Amino acid sequence: MKKIMLTGFRPTGKLHLGHLHGNIKNMIKYQPDYENYFFLVDWHALSTEYQEPGNIKSNLIECVVDLIALGVDPEKTNIYRQSDIPEIAELFLYLSMITPLSWLERCPTYKEQIKQIKSKDLSTLGFFSYPVLMAADILIVNADVVPVGEDQLPHLEITREIARRFNYFYGDYFKEPAELLSEATRVVGTDGRKMSKSYNNAIFLSDDEKTIKKKIRQMITDPERIHATDPGHPDICNVFSFYKIYCSEIIGEVEKRCKKGHIGCTACKDQIWPVIYNSLSDFQEKRQKLITNIDEIYAILEKSSKKVREVAGRTIAAVRQKMGID
Ligand code: TRP
Repeated sequence: MKKIMLTGFRPTGKLHLGHLHGNIKNMIKYQPDYENYFFLVDWHALSTEYQEPGNIKSNLIECVVDLIALGVDPEKTNIYRQSDIPEIAELFLYLSMITPLSWLERCPTYKEQIKQIKSKDLSTLGFFSYPVLMAADILIVNADVVPVGEDQLPHLEITREIARRFNYFYGDYFKEPAELLSEATRVVGTDGRKMSKSYNNAIFLSDDEKTIKKKIRQMITDPERIHATDPGHPDICNVFSFYKIYCSEIIGEVEKRCKKGHIGCTACKDQIWPVIYNSLSDFQEKRQKLITNIDEIYAILEKSSKKVREVAGRTIAAVRQKMGID
């Protein structure tokens, strides 16, 4: 029996290089070793987008298409929508009965977001209970490992605490899931900040050749370098950070030439953008095919959700019985 790997994605729309080199490459690598559950968290999206939920569904489909084109294999992996599994909502309800408010109040991601995000009213029950919903996502299939970025570790800790508390009250049932931390490569965006759709600095996996060329050409390199022959500083250059990801074999050479002022920034950019573009060509071809047959994408989601609901139904039956309301 394979162990269970589960992870949730926010339905952010088309994926970009930051997503790819963050968690996704890693998950696809581990896909053959586990029984896999990958899902799109549209309920979690609602917890922050409830005032304007308009794009959640179309974004979700774009994400699914990208994931499959990248190599998430529907034969090996259940790929589904959170909202297609009502058992998650029911488990959330039971878990909410046993979750102390103080665990949620002290959750660092909660405190941080309430402070940072002023444009939305996040003083809602749904947003406050975000980690409980996440615990329900994970515990509904009793996952063993959860690939996440570091920012999600507090949520995983709360999941383990809830599992432990449930087992203590009603007898062992839930496993305590472990994180699978990827050596996520931090990808900078075209402006040097972390790549993110909301910063408008992302290179999307589906960008065409012209767009990728333009985005790389516009990148800020070394502000002190005015003439092509001035010595450069690769350590602070955003374009160089792409060399680290895409051209590790020639990186020493590029570094030397830059530092000596033997290669100008435009020439350097023109050497890297085709590499980035070419690395996406397989993906883009597959994506093109998938996007013309959206019915098939819906069929994949439906097939997976049926399978997941069977597993989820067994969890709910056990939980009801343990909590004395079967
Ligand atoms: N909170 C996660 C994020 O923002 C998404 C998520 C929801 C998730 N449920 C999950 C991740 C369960 C892993 C497991 O990225």
